[in-house]
Amino acid sequence: KIVPVIMAGGKGTRLWPLSRATAAKQFIRFIGDKTLFQGTLDRVADHDLYEPAVVITNEEFRFLVAEQAREMDAKLSGIVLEPEARNTAAAVAVAALIVADLYGSDTLLQVLPSDHDIATDDRYRSCVDAAATAARAGKIVTFGITPTEPATGYGYIEMGEPLTAGANAVKRFVEKPKAEDAEKMLAAGNYFWNSGMFVFSAGQILSELRLLAPDVLAAAEKSVRVATKDLDFTRLDAEAFAESPSISIDYAVMEKTSNAAVVPSPISWSDLGSWDAVWKLGNADPDGNVVSGNATLVNTRNSLVMSRNSHLAVQGMDGVAVIASEDAVYVGRLDDSQQVGNLVKLLAADK
Ligand code: GDD
Ligand code: MG
Repeated sequence: KIVPVIMAGGKGTRLWPLSRATAAKQFIRFIGDKTLFQGTLDRVADHDLYEPAVVITNEEFRFLVAEQAREMDAKLSGIVLEPEARNTAAAVAVAALIVADLYGSDTLLQVLPSDHDIATDDRYRSCVDAAATAARAGKIVTFGITPTEPATGYGYIEMGEPLTAGANAVKRFVEKPKAEDAEKMLAAGNYFWNSGMFVFSAGQILSELRLLAPDVLAAAEKSVRVATKDLDFTRLDAEAFAESPSISIDYAVMEKTSNAAVVPSPISWSDLGSWDAVWKLGNADPDGNVVSGNATLVNTRNSLVMSRNSHLAVQGMDGVAVIASEDAVYVGRLDDSQQVGNLVKLLAADK
């Protein structure tokens, strides 16, 4: 069986003010009755295919993780707590060490971001099967999404020759390219976006890390060796973990390895990285508006209006986001959504 590893330690600042340092985007109900983290738990709830998940997150999010898993009656293999965020390479290294210890080093891991929206239909299932087959053959496997725009927030994968059923070699992996490079790769046509999910055996990713990111692995090993256990929580040793460079798995391994495979995945996928993406995913009314909470719209089109408590009245707008949390309001153009992260930096500097 596959062990799901859910990475839930990111902050998601571009969805301010609903996503906050105290409650990052994966723990929020955007649309529907489940949070994105709970949606991720659902995706790995099939116990014929999956062992209970390992969740790796920040110390600050531990109660959110435990509570939201309990709401779903989800059994977990464990909740691993990072004393500070060191990005995803360290998180993956720690998870692989723990899975190897619990289930053996030939065990397959499926690494899942906790903040995506994915339709878990038969097509998705057959992509996971293809990824598992390639991973059993020793590959580091990613899922390739057909790009629709020259987005700069994703990894780009150039597809090579066929390997196992449904999987191809990765010729080149470019994480978060410059806009002009993204446009070239989109035009070239033989590139995919990296979905952010990975499948590999614990042993294989550990040997890639040993080769390509030895300081990440060394810090992870030490922090796991002297970790303390407290009920469901595994606390990594702070001093050891802090020694890991802060780098994502995409830069640390995917850009460098010659052992990667991609499963072209015609699945419905959104990384929900910005208000624009939330709007695209929502159920729009005939005027193109996506509305949640208490709001009245007059002469307004193609907009996203979300309110937690207060009554929002919006008039004469086109293509905007109006988002009211309990204590803050954001108003901006939807096509400017990528800039919210910078705005949040400014707000933090103001304090
Ligand atoms: N435990 C832990 N610790 N989790 C983390 C940390 C950390 O320090 N940093 C981020 N995460 C979690 C986030 O919560 C998210 O679920 C996942 O890891 C990915 O992190 P992001 O910060 O959202 O990455 P990204 O969106 O910039 O880029 C990745 O995803 C893209 C697709 O959405 C890359 O893999 C890209 O190549 C990919 O295209
Ligand atoms: Mg992301």
